[in-house]
Amino acid sequence: MVSIELMKEEHVNIRRMIAVLQKRCIAMMNGAPVDPAELRQVISFIREYSDAHHHGKEEQFLFPVMTEKLGRVADNLINHGMLVEHDLGRGHVLALEEAVTAYEKDPSDANRLDILTEAMGWGKLLERHTKKEDDVVYPFAERALSQEDKDRVDAACTSFEEDPKNVEIRDKWLSFLEEMEKKA
Ligand SMILES: [Fe+2]
Ligand SMILES: [Fe+2]
Repeated sequence: MVSIELMKEEHVNIRRMIAVLQKRCIAMMNGAPVDPAELRQVISFIREYSDAHHHGKEEQFLFPVMTEKLGRVADNLINHGMLVEHDLGRGHVLALEEAVTAYEKDPSDANRLDILTEAMGWGKLLERHTKKEDDVVYPFAERALSQEDKDRVDAACTSFEEDPKNVEIRDKWLSFLEEMEKKA
């Protein structure tokens, strides 16, 4: 499915962000200054690219067809697995944002530690989550969905990708990612 190939590429980009964020966290752990402005950009990358752009396609197009057509196994995997993890990720990002705000008011060790904890909490969660989708959820969809359903998901994802608003979001955040990697 072209939509799944695209989502796997997005997983690669999300894991690139996790890798560069881990470098930043290690530097902060070793005493480098906290950069609240960059961290707020990372939070926006996660919300706009990883969550709205990527999880958005899973939640709107792929997962509903799987839960509708593939029975209990898909229902468990999606509703009690993948969607729960999407929400856990949102929790980490909200807590990261709160930690950055707290650090700006009070640059204490405790607030610095909260930044590292939530940033890496999001990263570790998304590493496992994207791997599970690559290894289990996506192959299940490829194997079990009818050609008609696959075509429907592909068409919906293609028109989403072609929407100028979404092109802009994708380009903006992929260049931000490249900039961060260059600085790392
Ligand atoms: Fe997901
Ligand atoms: Fe995903």
